[in-house]
Amino acid sequence: MIPIKINNSKFLVKSNLSILEACKYVGITVPRFCYHETLSVAGNCRMCLVETSMDPKPVSSCTRPIMKDMEIFVDTPLVKKARENVVETLLLNHPLDCPICDQGGECDLQDQTKVFGSDYSRFFFNKRGVEDKNCGPLIKTIMTRCIHCTRCVRFGTEIAGVDFFGTLNRGTSTEIGSYSSKFFDSEISGNVIDLCPVGALTSKPYAFKARPWELKINESIDLTDSTGSNIYVNFKETEVMRILPKNNSEINETLISDKARFSYDSIKNQRLQKLFEKHNLSNSFTFKLSNWPKVFKNLDKLLFTNPNVKVTFLINEELDLESLTILNDIQNKLSNNVRVKLIERSSNIPNNAFLSWSNDKLVDLKKNVQYCFLISSNIRLEGAILNAKIRNKVVSDTLNTFSMGQNFNSNFSLNFINLNLNNVLNFFESKSNISKLLVSTNKPLIVLGETLNKRLFGNFNLTSLIKKIIPSAIVLDVKKHSNTESMQLVNIKALDSNTFQNSDILINLNLDDDAKIRKIFSKFNGSLIWLNTHGSKIATKADVLIPTLTPFEEENTYLNFEQRAQKNFKNLAWCR
Ligand code: SF4
Ligand code: SF4
Ligand code: FES
Repeated sequence: MIPIKINNSKFLVKSNLSILEACKYVGITVPRFCYHETLSVAGNCRMCLVETSMDPKPVSSCTRPIMKDMEIFVDTPLVKKARENVVETLLLNHPLDCPICDQGGECDLQDQTKVFGSDYSRFFFNKRGVEDKNCGPLIKTIMTRCIHCTRCVRFGTEIAGVDFFGTLNRGTSTEIGSYSSKFFDSEISGNVIDLCPVGALTSKPYAFKARPWELKINESIDLTDSTGSNIYVNFKETEVMRILPKNNSEINETLISDKARFSYDSIKNQRLQKLFEKHNLSNSFTFKLSNWPKVFKNLDKLLFTNPNVKVTFLINEELDLESLTILNDIQNKLSNNVRVKLIERSSNIPNNAFLSWSNDKLVDLKKNVQYCFLISSNIRLEGAILNAKIRNKVVSDTLNTFSMGQNFNSNFSLNFINLNLNNVLNFFESKSNISKLLVSTNKPLIVLGETLNKRLFGNFNLTSLIKKIIPSAIVLDVKKHSNTESMQLVNIKALDSNTFQNSDILINLNLDDDAKIRKIFSKFNGSLIWLNTHGSKIATKADVLIPTLTPFEEENTYLNFEQRAQKNFKNLAWCR
């Protein structure tokens, strides 16, 4: 720690910080455009200028390291004038179309102009035009609004591993673009929308849908994979308008996958909003609107008048822990009649779930890991955030990575070992060079893929085996579904043909209309109950349609692949 003075107040700060970081550390905000915590320092916008006792003229605080006894002045008249000039330069060619800009209300340029900008313009010539770029179906570009901060360029190169954006031309002709006409092909591409400080890069699906001050936010969990990324869900009235990342330094930091960000559009289509009961006519049937007392009465009759009636709840590995616990209690109390079954078990895990838990976390990647082994895992698809973290370590720390059993289009250098899945177990006990390397390595990172347990090991506990052979190993067992760990905890089994044939009533609890459920429903002759967020064609086979809430509308708990319990929150607050 070294002593410095900021605006004549004394502080002790870490010695390896820049002036901007030191100010942030003590709670003083310095305006910036190009600086971002997750990216390398570019120092090109000059908005963060400050005066110091050691420099003859204002310096950019994001690039200038602090020094012992340095005196820093962040609000002097010269600094304010310099910032006013920076803003004036940025606005020279800016379209100033805030009323129709999707960034309006949450735009750094708008905010800084309000604080530092001049109240009139000294320039009366035509503004330059810049052609918009086609980044694909997710990212909308209005490149006249670009202020050349290069955050998007650095994000592509440093985090996404895709050199899509680059700086073209020089001087007043400078523009951000791509060298060839292709899409921004990355599973985390949507994060440039958050990183862009202005409205140059915005969300295409969200374009012109809402203004930020109309939105309310829920804190929630991403359920499109098992990482459990923290997200904000923005609602306008009752409709989900967009999903943004919530910073969690132990899980997703400030990133989310494109799956998490853009998959909300499925929520509003075919939403089941009312109760319906089937009425059979002579040659056909019709659904009539019903009400809760009537449906409860009919369900009571259906479920409880005959003590021998067999009821099977069909669920998947995305059901929340609270619902699962209630279902499990019902199953235990009415064990002769009620069964809870998974539509399909994605992995065969040992009966005692705790034994297969490694207790290793995503933050363990910050430790001194030198070797990473992906076993039967396409980590780009199965865990986009984990993939970005591993890539970051490969690029910055020279992490050596090997992929066994699965060759995929990786965005970092990967040594592929063509192991037959059936030989993976032998590999761990064999004397091959890679085996020796794995066992001798201090803290190897081992990522187990989704298909591994299912295809090879059945009830075999691979995590325990690895921990036994290499006690220091960091084992991350990435799952396909968001709440597989809870299923293991309660030990729900997959639907078997015996249970299916002995069922009188099948209850579909929030399962999608896919090939598997269609097959089951078409073969079943008993009563069907559709307890679901959405209707579908196959739902017409049901006798009762009961609407449920989506996870974003409830308060529920989910366990991610680290076995970390996280809760959705329903307390809607206005966007700031
Ligand atoms: Fe206005 Fe910001 Fe949009 Fe520019 S980028 S038009 S300043 S809201
Ligand atoms: Fe910065 Fe946005 Fe321009 Fe990229 S597009 S350089 S993030 S202003
Ligand atoms: Fe320092 Fe841009 S934030 S130069």
